[in-house]
Amino acid sequence: MDRTFVACKPDAVERGLAGEIIARFERKGLKLVAAELRTIDRSTAEKHYEEHASKPFFGELVDFITRGPAMLCVFEGPEDTWKVVRTLMGATNPKEAAPGTIRGDLGILMTENLVHGSDGPESAQREIGIFFPNL
Ligand code: RTP
Ligand code: MG
Repeated sequence: MDRTFVACKPDAVERGLAGEIIARFERKGLKLVAAELRTIDRSTAEKHYEEHASKPFFGELVDFITRGPAMLCVFEGPEDTWKVVRTLMGATNPKEAAPGTIRGDLGILMTENLVHGSDGPESAQREIGIFFPNL
């Protein structure tokens, strides 16, 4: 089985949409194998998003992801789980995300785009290690 990391971001938790987001992945056929509601600390957020450290939006991104609890999850599926998750999430900018996707159906703003999913098998392994080191 193949695992990936998902976070229902603080905006999703604030709006009461964590259950809706998790349910979409479950209905697709993915199995929830770990979950914890946790406020990500600044240094962990900076490590998680280190690929974006030089980008102009990095400070705003870290402020946002640490502003309140996120629902951190690991999902498992038969293969390419990270890709299945990314397809259901939709494009990064919710204004461009297709209807039927999480971001396309539920969001408007670029920063408050509801959900994070690892962008490949290596980042899935890396991010599971950051957030669920005992898994
Ligand atoms: P995520 O990592 O959160 O799942 O999002 P993603 O892969 O779809 O997008 P990524 O390129 O990794 O960017 C991480 C987050 O940074 C914000 N962002 N802002 N202003 C901008 O040009 C810009 N680009 C990205 C988004 O909130 C995105 O989710
Ligand atoms: Mg990303």
